[in-house]
Amino acid sequence: MKVCVVGTGYVGLTTGVSLAFLGHEVTCVDLDQAKVDMLTAGRCPIYEPGMEELLAEAAPNLTFTTSYADAVPGADVVFVAVQTPSADDGSPDLRYLRSAAESVAQALNNDFTVVVNKSTVPIGSGNWVDAILRDSFEQRADRPAGVEFAVASNPEFLREGNAIADTLYPDRIVIGSDNPRSLEVLNRLYRPIINQTFTPPAFLTRPEDVNAVPLVSTDLASAELIKYAANAFLALKISYANEIGQLAAKVGADITEVARGMGLDQRIGSRFLQPGVGWGGSCFGKDTKALIATAGEYNLEMPIVKAARDVNQRQRAIAVERLQDELRILKGRKIGLLGLAFKPNTDDLRDAPALDIANSLIARGARVKLHDPVASERFRTEQPELAAYLTSTIDELFADCDAVVLVTEWAQYLELDWSKFVGLMRTPIVLDGRHVLDADRMRRLGYRYLAVAG
Ligand code: UDX
Repeated sequence: MKVCVVGTGYVGLTTGVSLAFLGHEVTCVDLDQAKVDMLTAGRCPIYEPGMEELLAEAAPNLTFTTSYADAVPGADVVFVAVQTPSADDGSPDLRYLRSAAESVAQALNNDFTVVVNKSTVPIGSGNWVDAILRDSFEQRADRPAGVEFAVASNPEFLREGNAIADTLYPDRIVIGSDNPRSLEVLNRLYRPIINQTFTPPAFLTRPEDVNAVPLVSTDLASAELIKYAANAFLALKISYANEIGQLAAKVGADITEVARGMGLDQRIGSRFLQPGVGWGGSCFGKDTKALIATAGEYNLEMPIVKAARDVNQRQRAIAVERLQDELRILKGRKIGLLGLAFKPNTDDLRDAPALDIANSLIARGARVKLHDPVASERFRTEQPELAAYLTSTIDELFADCDAVVLVTEWAQYLELDWSKFVGLMRTPIVLDGRHVLDADRMRRLGYRYLAVAG
């Protein structure tokens, strides 16, 4: 089938490259010429494991352009995957979505096109995009006859760092539309994934338990709400583990054991119960905020979602308090942060806990040192005022430190020969911000081991 993808951020790029890999003929539009040039040359503008390999495999079916006129005409499906950043009041800023929808309408010419909202959009945006498309299409002087289109929602559940696996082997595909023909077209588009009939890429074998993917075909509003409800649930699951972790610390329980014991109950599940400095990234913060904002439009409160956000923010403060309790005085102390990205396997720094922790330590007079195996380069550009604190080696980070905080659980950090660094520190205090280090082993090596919760 012929597919157009508007926007080559995490979601758009992964969608476009994966669909081209599956054999569809895909054109990705992005207004950023530099990005288009880079992708055309087979280089990936974001750090995402496997993306360049998949780009190479999908290349025969994949084109990048800055022109809607090159991409939209003839497409059976147009995915709109532009950014929807948070406005000041928490509601998503839909400027880019509006302008993308208008540009798509200017170029539609197929007898039937499904326009899919792939960006995380507020509930009701399907109708809104539909209205923009229709208005813009009606205003076209060169409007062709016999052109039909319908809007569908197909929310994305991919995690950064796992984007390709989450797309090719998803837990489910959700399609929302009030038009049966759209549901049929998208069902056909996704059939290779639903039935798992494609040959997996060499670098990403199919997990043994994946043989068919459930399809949730529903109405537009339900599909839009599924995305928010799922993300908010994951966010509050983590916050719940963190809240229990604070009680665990008081009563002398081990939160890691508690989370394991809870998670083995299949009704709860063990994933997203990892305690620590909490969630960051582009989705959980933005989506929980937007859910609260949408509920507010209907005079509804979302006390559980609000609490999940408060608990999450508190975890970052607790990391600093733990250091203060231990060191008594933070002024003049050297504190190293291991990891800046909001999670491993990405260079994404949006809402990263490390940023709040570093700023709060600096505000209290501490001297920070920062390290990340992948995100340093992006950090330098996006956080110029903190860039001077970056160290290029791990030895440099540990040298003379009064404490080191493991903020992002990169495999490189877990595999470190920790015995090497204990002697480099002024006081060998390690605060495990992700509850991933072996506390007994760290103590045997001579560290004073602290955890954020539990
Ligand atoms: C998330 C959703 O998982 C995905 O479905 C959605 O489409 C986009 O948002 P992402 O933000 O890429 O994906 O990362 P995810 O792996 O979900 O982690 C989010 C944050 O939660 C990270 O900061 C991570 O460190 C933290 N986390 C995750 C925990 O603190 N504990 C956990 O148990 C799991």
